[in-house]
Amino acid sequence: MIIINTSPRKGGNSDLIEKYVVDYLKENQLNFEPLKLREINISLPDHCFDCAVGNYCQNIKDDMESKVIPQIVKHDEWLIIMPTICGYGSTLFKIFIDRLSSLYHKDRIHYFHNLKIKAVIHGQVDNSWQILLKWFEDYQSWTGLKSFEYITFVFSPKKGFNFPKDKIKQFIQMKLT
Ligand SMILES: Cc1cc2nc3c(=O)[nH]c(=O)nc-3n(C[C@H](O)[C@H](O)[C@H](O)COP(=O)(O)O)c2cc1C
Repeated sequence: MIIINTSPRKGGNSDLIEKYVVDYLKENQLNFEPLKLREINISLPDHCFDCAVGNYCQNIKDDMESKVIPQIVKHDEWLIIMPTICGYGSTLFKIFIDRLSSLYHKDRIHYFHNLKIKAVIHGQVDNSWQILLKWFEDYQSWTGLKSFEYITFVFSPKKGFNFPKDKIKQFIQMKLT
């Protein structure tokens, strides 16, 4: 499993969730690799013709095609930790998804056919992630993703971030078919 933390904020709520997940996986001797999007060298997509048709981009020299995609394709399960931002995911998440364009090529899209995505979605405003969920539905449809499951929870900035540990634990344990 690869754990993809999509928050730009160090020490924020996504980091707390990631730490809880990582500790749990370590305790249970389960294999995982962490990927914090804010720590990788990732450029804005340039929308060149190659990117648009899923060829390798000739212009952008970030770490996506050389390091990150080779790391990702070793995994058939992603656990994405997602803060809700203006009703969608973080900007980093969107850049990451767009920079996976070489995986959307017809000769490589098969990677998604065996991929299971689990998303832990959180935010301050209940149900404000509806557009994000619809986006995932569409992403699943055009990539042919094997499965997509999610949990959501809302927290109160006043009461602090008391996230539902048991819910997250059950979610990690859940086998996806
Ligand atoms: C610009 C901005 C927009 C936000 N929009 C939403 C939103 O639409 N829905 C929501 O539930 N929370 C929203 N939030 C609250 C964040 O989800 C919350 O601050 C969260 O803790 C951020 O995750 P992080 O701490 O892991 O970075 C927003 C926060 C910011 C900074």
